[in-house]
Amino acid sequence: MKQKRTTIKDILQTAVVGQTYLVKGWVRTKRGNKNIAFAALNDGSTIFNLQVVIDIAKFEEDTLKQITTGACIAVTGVLAASQGQGQAVELQAGSIEIYGTADQTYPLQKKGHSLEFLREIAHLRPRTNTFGAVLRIRHAMAFAIHNYFNDKGFYYLHTPLITASDCEGAGAMFQVTTLDLQQVPMTADGKVDYSRDFFGQPTALTVSGQLEGELGAMALGNIYTFGPTFRAENSNTPRHLSEFWMIEPEMAFYDIDDNMDLAEDFLKYLIRYALDHCHDDLEFLCRMFDNELMERLEFVLHNDFVRLTYTEGIEILLASGQKFEYPVSWGIDLQSEHERYLVEQHFKKPVILTDYPKDIKAFYMKLNDDGKTVRAMDVLFPKIGEIIGGSQREEDYDKLRTRIDEMHIPMKDMWWYLDTRRFGSAPHSGFGLGFERLLLFVTGMANIRDVIPFPRTPNNASF
Ligand code: 4AD
Ligand code: MG
Repeated sequence: MKQKRTTIKDILQTAVVGQTYLVKGWVRTKRGNKNIAFAALNDGSTIFNLQVVIDIAKFEEDTLKQITTGACIAVTGVLAASQGQGQAVELQAGSIEIYGTADQTYPLQKKGHSLEFLREIAHLRPRTNTFGAVLRIRHAMAFAIHNYFNDKGFYYLHTPLITASDCEGAGAMFQVTTLDLQQVPMTADGKVDYSRDFFGQPTALTVSGQLEGELGAMALGNIYTFGPTFRAENSNTPRHLSEFWMIEPEMAFYDIDDNMDLAEDFLKYLIRYALDHCHDDLEFLCRMFDNELMERLEFVLHNDFVRLTYTEGIEILLASGQKFEYPVSWGIDLQSEHERYLVEQHFKKPVILTDYPKDIKAFYMKLNDDGKTVRAMDVLFPKIGEIIGGSQREEDYDKLRTRIDEMHIPMKDMWWYLDTRRFGSAPHSGFGLGFERLLLFVTGMANIRDVIPFPRTPNNASF
């Protein structure tokens, strides 16, 4: 009977000494002497390697030569208790098959490459301990997100990636066109003739699934989206990507308080899930990059988020005596330095800021009775700043139309969105969690380029 492959994770967790196993993976290192060689094998199933013990006399020299760092091999052998330090068991190689060799030019020869260098070889960096850990945690968080909402009776709604409307009104969208850019068709009055484009109108990659998400909530009750979103803003920071993943729950009959309760519960669930399911990977990242990682995760888990209004937040910043790069006054869009001051210096807890000035927020947010502020909520986290942005939505047809007018959004594009306010409108709320911002927090990595397999940022779309 053909022997089945066992993953290294399973070997280390449940395998029985004395039994024969087949493992397949990539050689991380090989060392030894003229009688015996030790190869550390990793197959991605766990941060840990399996030590393969090779009795040199038993193998052809040609085979042995090909077992180098980076090579992919299959090994069948008997599992034994290890005499060496650092591992409980090892596999004593009986037969070895070479799948793919790797010569001296393999860039991951030695340990300890800088994260900057690894970004230049993003096609190979998943084979490092660090990126193995990050990508396994990324998977676990995606799975936990679906789990959380499924358990709560939310439906996963697939919203389109190509859109003819601009949700956030930030004007930073990637255009989608099949027009020949060398020969753009023009109308008589000198404008681009989009009637000849693929969709017969200007289209772009979506910045958010929210508007369609609201349509879903107005029928299914509670929905969430989880997909890629695209922003063409030229922000070269450790917290911005041009292509990032966002989770956007949208709930009928939720007010802003229900919305905040959900956001806090959701974040705590995800952090708990990571601590419960990603222990080995988190411990590795904690040891390598961020000694306070575990503490920070536990801390968020066990503290209530502080809730206050934007206006109260501004007062605290003004009274702080702190010198900020961007001066503080009521009406400014808070910068990362302001958000982090509130979270890290002042409250030393996650903060939910609400009721922002309407002029710095999107058109769909519910107007407060003061006529100046909207029922917005941003969740601010230590080291990250804004991790969630959301709001109660304006459900009143006339007020929403007024906001659309004030913000010069073409009304003709919005008829379908406005229809939800014409037919059976209801109070509702939602928010967007930036998936990579969550991962920055959970993994303790410092740069958002290092928590997504293939980052897209200004001037970088390689791999
Ligand atoms: O605050 P934002 O722009 O809100 C929305 O898009 C709403 N439509 C969400 C909603 O209410 N359904 O973005 C939401 C979150 C931010 O808090 C941040 O975590 C993340 O998305 N985000 C980014 N993450 C990485 N790179 C970028 N360029 C990001 N822009 C926003
Ligand atoms: Mg925001």
